[in-house]
Amino acid sequence: MRPSNMGVVSFVDVKLEDVWYTYDGVNYALSSVGMEFNGSGLYLVTGPNGSGKTTLLKVLALIHKPSKGRILINGVNPWSRGLTDSIRSSLAYVHDKPLIVKGDVDYNISLGLRLKNLEVAEGSIGYYIERYGLSEFRKRDARSLSAGNRRIVSILRALILKPKMLIIDEPFNHLDVKKVELLIEDLRELSRNTTIVMSTHYLYKEILECAKERYEIIAGRLRKL
Ligand SMILES: Nc1ncnc2c1ncn2[C@@H]1O[C@H](COP(=O)(O)OP(=O)(O)OP(=O)(O)O)[C@@H](O)[C@H]1O
Ligand SMILES: [Mg+2]
Repeated sequence: MRPSNMGVVSFVDVKLEDVWYTYDGVNYALSSVGMEFNGSGLYLVTGPNGSGKTTLLKVLALIHKPSKGRILINGVNPWSRGLTDSIRSSLAYVHDKPLIVKGDVDYNISLGLRLKNLEVAEGSIGYYIERYGLSEFRKRDARSLSAGNRRIVSILRALILKPKMLIIDEPFNHLDVKKVELLIEDLRELSRNTTIVMSTHYLYKEILECAKERYEIIAGRLRKL
């Protein structure tokens, strides 16, 4: 059985209106970005290195506040309404560089659940550990795992939350063929009820097939494909 844990806020629509973002006050990593995600589904963002994918995902995850323009979630601007913390608690963000803390694989996978004060559902961690072939590493310090296994642990930490919105940056880096296949299956299933925004350089046929919409970003400017 797949585990299930529900978030707090039910995301339906996410909109960016004329969003600009600058790290240094001079150069813009995002320039006049407009986009709208209506309902659940997998939204793909592609583009060359340095084009602004990670920056865009961080704006969507409410990590970066737009320098200009606004983000609306279900029609509400969380930055002006003091809602950033409650909305962040209902979404999951997977960094492009896997975040692994001291502790074994179980501890790392359940970290998000515990930070959000959610119960670890019976068997849920075991389900994913077995599915992704991590059983033999289960009691190892997760910091000692290989790059691909560290990445999958950081992804499972988010999948197990069954978030209302999943923002996932370059999930396929370092993953072997089997794990890519399994992950695409899981993302496809999750996208039925979750808004997933993913950046990737790997345009697998299966991921293109399950994408609801695809966007390209070049030099901070986004367009729908
Ligand atoms: N912390 C930062 N401080 C200053 N500039 C930054 C920072 N992070 C990113 N940038 C700049 O913002 C622009 C967009 O970077 P971003 O990481 O969003 O690109 P990306 O499309 O995710 O690239 P990649 O495919 O390499 O992951 C780049 O010019 C980058 O140098
Ligand atoms: Mg990036």
